Amino acid sequence: ATARRSPEGGLIKVESDSTKYEEEGIRAKFTDRGADVVKDADGKFSVKKTEKTYEFYTKSKVGKVGLMLVGLGGNNGTTVLATHLANKHQISWRTRDGVQQPNYIGSVVRASTVRLGIEPETGKDVFVPLSDMLPMVHPNDFVIGGWDISAVPMDQAMLRAKVLEWDLQRQLIPHMEGVKPLPSIYYPDFIAANQADRADNLIEGDDKQAHLDHIRNDIRKFKSDNELDSVVVLWTANTERYAEIIPGVNDTSDNLLKSIKDSHEEVSPSTIFAVASILEGVPFINGSPQNTFVPGCIELAEKNQTFIGGDDFKSGQTKVKSVLAEFLVNAGIKPLSISSYNHLGNNDGKNLSSQRQFRSKEISKSSVVDDMVAANHLLYKTAAEVTAETGEVTKKGEHPDHIVVIKHVPAVGDSKRAIDEYYSELLMGGRNVMNIFNECEDSLLATPLIFDLAILAELLTRVTYKPEGEAEYKPLYSVLSLLSYMLKAPLVKPGTDVVNSLNRQRNALEGFLKACLGLENNGDLLLNTRIW
Ligand code: NAI
Repeated sequence: ATARRSPEGGLIKVESDSTKYEEEGIRAKFTDRGADVVKDADGKFSVKKTEKTYEFYTKSKVGKVGLMLVGLGGNNGTTVLATHLANKHQISWRTRDGVQQPNYIGSVVRASTVRLGIEPETGKDVFVPLSDMLPMVHPNDFVIGGWDISAVPMDQAMLRAKVLEWDLQRQLIPHMEGVKPLPSIYYPDFIAANQADRADNLIEGDDKQAHLDHIRNDIRKFKSDNELDSVVVLWTANTERYAEIIPGVNDTSDNLLKSIKDSHEEVSPSTIFAVASILEGVPFINGSPQNTFVPGCIELAEKNQTFIGGDDFKSGQTKVKSVLAEFLVNAGIKPLSISSYNHLGNNDGKNLSSQRQFRSKEISKSSVVDDMVAANHLLYKTAAEVTAETGEVTKKGEHPDHIVVIKHVPAVGDSKRAIDEYYSELLMGGRNVMNIFNECEDSLLATPLIFDLAILAELLTRVTYKPEGEAEYKPLYSVLSLLSYMLKAPLVKPGTDVVNSLNRQRNALEGFLKACLGLENNGDLLLNTRIW
C-alpha cells in the first residue's frame, strides 16, 4: 500500500480511438447507457433504452496539493499528520509483535484494487491499484496544515489523542513539535459545553464577516507560503448541533452571505469554513454529521462552480450496516429491526454526550438503510394513508425499526465498540437474530478515509466533461456525491436520490474512473464464462 509511483499515472494505457493521451491530459469518449421505465395503467413496465455520449478530459498534472484540516489537533487530525509523516519518512516502530512498517491500510485509493479486465491468454482477471487508474496525489506528498481551537502543539496533541504506539510517537515528536494549529472560530453554542476548556486558540472578536475573511486569508497564505497548486479543506472538528434552516437567513446564498455580514447567530463555524473555501475556489469536505451545507451554502457552491462533499465519515458501524442491510434485503430476508449501541471514550464521545450534538449524529446514522428498504416493495409494502381531517392521501412505506444509542465511556479511549442487533423475518414466519460486536480504533479507520476524500476531491477538480457535440467542457456538478463511499449521510444533488448501498457507491466510483478512460464498467457479467 505504500509503494511510490509517479503521480502522473502511466501504468494503464487504453488502446482505443476514443481515448487520447495528450500532452496535458487524457481525453476519452464514454457512452452512458441506461433505461427509462414507465409504468402504465395496467401496471406494466415499458422500458426504453437510453444512451448519451460524453467526452471527459482529465488534466494529468497533479501539482503540489495542500490539505487543511479543521480540527487538526484532534484524534483524527493528529493521526492524519502522524500517518503522513511516518510514511513519508519511512519510520518503522517496535511493538510487542515485532517491527511495524507504516502503511495506508484502510484507504480505498491506496490499498484497494480495481478489476480492469482479463488477460486474454489465461482468461484470468487483472487487478490494478485504484490509485493507478488516473493521476492522483500520493498522500506522502500532501502539505498538511489547519486549524484548531486548542493551541496544543501537534506532538502534544498526538500524545493527548492516545491513538498510536509510544515507539512511533517517540520518533514522530521531533517532526511534529514545531507544528501549531492556526487559531480557529469558536461559537460555544454549536459544540458541547464540555469542550470549553480546550478553547484557547481563538480568532478574536465576534464579527462573523471578519472571521470569514480571516479564514479566507489563512487558505490563501497557506497556499502561497507552501507554493501549492491546489488546496482541499476538510472538517474533522467536533460535531456541531444542527443549524436551524430559517427563511431569509440561510436559505439562499445571498441571504447566507448577508447573515454572515450581520453575524447572525444561526451561522455555524463549519458553515463559515465551507463558505470561505467556496469563495476561495477550493473543495470543502464535511467529515462530521451536522448540516454545515445549509441550502444557501449549496447554492453558493453551485454559483461559484466549486466543490463540496459530505457528511460524516463512514468508518465503522454504518459501513457494516449498509453492507448487512443490503445483503439481507437483497437476499429476500426482511429486517424488522436494527438496534445499534455504541460506546467510546475519546473526545468525540465526550462531545457527543451532549444531547444536541448527539442528535446530529443520530440523524446522520438513521437513514442508512432507507434506499435498500425502498428498493424492495415485495418485502416492504407501501400503504396509502388518509389524513382524517383533510382527506389528504399520502403514501407511507413500511420500514424496519431502527435505533441508535451512543454513550461516552472514558476508559475505552479511542477504541469504539459498536453492538448491532439485526432482527429479521425468515421463511414461513421464522425469525433470525444476528448480533455484531465491532471493536475498532476510531481514528485508524477515519484517517485513511480522510486521505481518500482529499485525494479524490482533488482529482475531481481536474475532470471536465461535455456532452458529445457541444463545444465547452464544464466542471462536474458542485456536490461530489462520488465521495459517498466514505460518507455516512452522503450529500447529493438536490432532487436526486441518496444511494447508501456501499456496493453501488463503490461501483459508481470505479465506473467513473473507468469512464474517464473511456472504459465500460460491466465487468461482472463475465459473459465469456457463461457461453460455449
Ligand atoms: P476530536 O474531538 O479528537 O477532535 C476534534 C478537534 O476539533 C478537537 O481538537 C477540537 O479542539 C477541534 N475543534 C472543535 N471545534 C473547532 C473549530 N470550530 N475549529 C477548529 N477546531 C475545532 O474528534 P475526532 O475523533 O478527531 O473526530 C473528529 C470529527 O469527526 C467528529 O465530529 C466526529 O464525529 C467525526 N467522525 C469521526 C469518525 C471516526 O473517528 N471514526 C467517524 C465519523 C465522524
